[in-house]
Amino acid sequence: MIPPVVRFLLYLPFIALLVSCGEDDLAALPSGPPVGTGVYGQVCAACHGVNGEGKEELFSPSITGLPVWYVEEQLGKFRSGKRGSHPEDIPGQQMRAISLSLSDAQIKEAAATVAEMPIILTEPPLAGVDLETARFRFANECMECHRYNGKGEVVFHSAQLISLNRSYLIRQLKNYRDGKRGASEGDLYGVKMVEMTSRLTDEEIEMFVNYIGALAHGDDPRSARER
Ligand code: HEC
Ligand code: HEC
Repeated sequence: MIPPVVRFLLYLPFIALLVSCGEDDLAALPSGPPVGTGVYGQVCAACHGVNGEGKEELFSPSITGLPVWYVEEQLGKFRSGKRGSHPEDIPGQQMRAISLSLSDAQIKEAAATVAEMPIILTEPPLAGVDLETARFRFANECMECHRYNGKGEVVFHSAQLISLNRSYLIRQLKNYRDGKRGASEGDLYGVKMVEMTSRLTDEEIEMFVNYIGALAHGDDPRSARER
């Protein structure tokens, strides 16, 4: 047993550390109204957060580190109504309204800002998930287009997955499956995801999202690929 006095002394450095990172550090943390004078700070930060981390309560996803081409392509889809015009897709409708208020130049500028943001990784998988099955399914059903590292591939127009938050991933996979995204005429790339999700159950969707969490936090699906 360590006597209480000694224990207190052992804790002292930690207490000192806690006290020293007081108000100054807190002030440096993102909080309150959007910062920055660019398009991102003035328009996007209100919903996607100062660091692009997203806000669960607004259904706005983390968009950190999404490549320029992807942001421009998706904003183009929102504008044209290929995405965000289904009557039950309220979050999509909100982003569509924003996209319609922006000029091409503003979209370009915001996309460049987003692409430079350090990636905030998606949540790790929930405990107790059968990762072996999930890894096998991802390797054989998703990896071809989203790559082994879940970073997407411009050639396939496929999205980066490892930075998207769990609730958003689940919602989007259901959106594709349920005809709320990717089902508009002429959405050549969205339709690929409609095909991929059409037979998935809710449980399978959660399994894939858990696996994306594992992938983001270091799992490697390459050995699970069938030859
Ligand atoms: C009023 C809130 C709001 C504002 C402001 C806003 N967004 Fe969004 N954004 C959303 C919501 C909600 C979604 C999720 C749409 C969905 O579920 O399909 C979204 C989705 C997106 C997506 C799709 C992400 C993906 O992985 O496909 C991109 C890209 C995006 N926003 C970029 C921006 C940029 C850039 C700006 C600033 C020019 C911006 N947003 C401003 C609410 C907002
Ligand atoms: C044939 C290629 C292909 C395959 C296979 C594929 N995807 Fe996709 N995925 C895409 C493309 C292309 C997009 C962008 C579609 C769009 O513009 O709406 C996309 C988009 C997504 C999105 C939305 C990302 C965002 O930022 O909103 C998720 C989530 C996703 N895929 C997950 C998966 C999962 C999980 C699998 C395996 C079950 C899978 N994909 C298999 C091509 C593919």
